[in-house]
Amino acid sequence: MLNVKDISIQYGKNPKPTVEHFSLELNEGEICSIVGESGSGKTTVIRAILGLLPGGGKVSQGDILFNDKSLLKYSREDWRKLRGTDISMIFQDSGAMINPTRKIGGQFVEYIRTHENISKKDAWDKGVMMLERMRLPSGDNIMNSYPFQLSGGMRQRVGIAMAMTFEPKLLLADEPTSALDVTTQAQIIRQMMELRDQYNTSIIIVTHNLGVAMYMSDKIVVMKHGAVVDAGTREDILHHAKSDYTRNLLTCVPTLEGERYV
Ligand SMILES: Nc1ncnc2c1ncn2[C@@H]1O[C@H](COP(=O)(O)OP(=O)(O)O)[C@@H](O)[C@H]1O
Ligand SMILES: [Mg+2]
Repeated sequence: MLNVKDISIQYGKNPKPTVEHFSLELNEGEICSIVGESGSGKTTVIRAILGLLPGGGKVSQGDILFNDKSLLKYSREDWRKLRGTDISMIFQDSGAMINPTRKIGGQFVEYIRTHENISKKDAWDKGVMMLERMRLPSGDNIMNSYPFQLSGGMRQRVGIAMAMTFEPKLLLADEPTSALDVTTQAQIIRQMMELRDQYNTSIIIVTHNLGVAMYMSDKIVVMKHGAVVDAGTREDILHHAKSDYTRNLLTCVPTLEGERYV
C-alpha cells in the first residue's frame, strides 16, 4: 500500500540531508509508529509522505509509492484530490488546524464539500454522524460550538472525525496525543485502533512515547539524528533491538494509564 524506499530529505541549500535512508513498507490495516527524540526528523518524514514539506524542503533521493504510484510525481491537482480523502492527517493539537474564530460546524461542512458534491444539510448530517462515531456526546452541540468551548481531547476527536470522513486508506498522525492528559491519551489511542479495525485504515503515528508505540503498533521505526537506528515488527524491537539507543528507551518505557505494555 505504502512503500517508502530509501528516501533522503534536504532543507534548503544544506548539503547534509536532514533525514537519510528512511524506508518503510506498510500494508493495509497496519499501524506503524515512528519514535525518536525531538529533532530526529519524524515530522519531516510525515510531511514528505504527505507532499507537504515546507518551501525549500525536498526528497533528494529515493521514492515514495502509494498503491504502486510515485507520490513524488503527483501534481498539485493530484494532491488536492488525494489529501483529505485517501490520505489524511491529524496534528498534535487539532485546535491548531481548526480556525478558532469559527464554529466547528461551518468548518466541517466546508471541508466535506470541498471533497464531495453534496448539500450543506447533508454535509452537516455527515459531520454529526462522524462526531458521534468518535463518541462525542451530541454531534449537533459540537457542530454549534467554537473550538475554544471544547476541551483539548474533544478538539482532537473533532480532528480525527474530520480526518476519517472519507475513510482514508492511510492516516498520518503527528504526536496526536502529546498535548493531552494520560487518560484522554489512552482513550484516543484506543479509538484510533478501533478505527483501524473498522475501516482497515493504515496508520502512521509519530510519538515520543515508546509505551504508546509498543501498545498500538504492528511495526516500529526508531529515529535518531535523521537516521533510522532500528526498524521492525513490535516483537523485533522488543526482543532484538540493534541499537543501544532503542535498548535504552526500552528500559524506561512510560506506561499507558498505569499499565506497562513491555
Ligand atoms: N522548514 C525547515 N527548514 C529547515 N530545517 C528544518 C525545517 N523544519 C525542520 N527542520 C530541521 O529538521 C530537523 C528535524 O526536524 P523535525 O522533522 O521537526 O523533527 P521531529 O519531528 O523529530 O522533532 C531539525 O533539525 C529541524 O531544525
Ligand atoms: Mg515533530
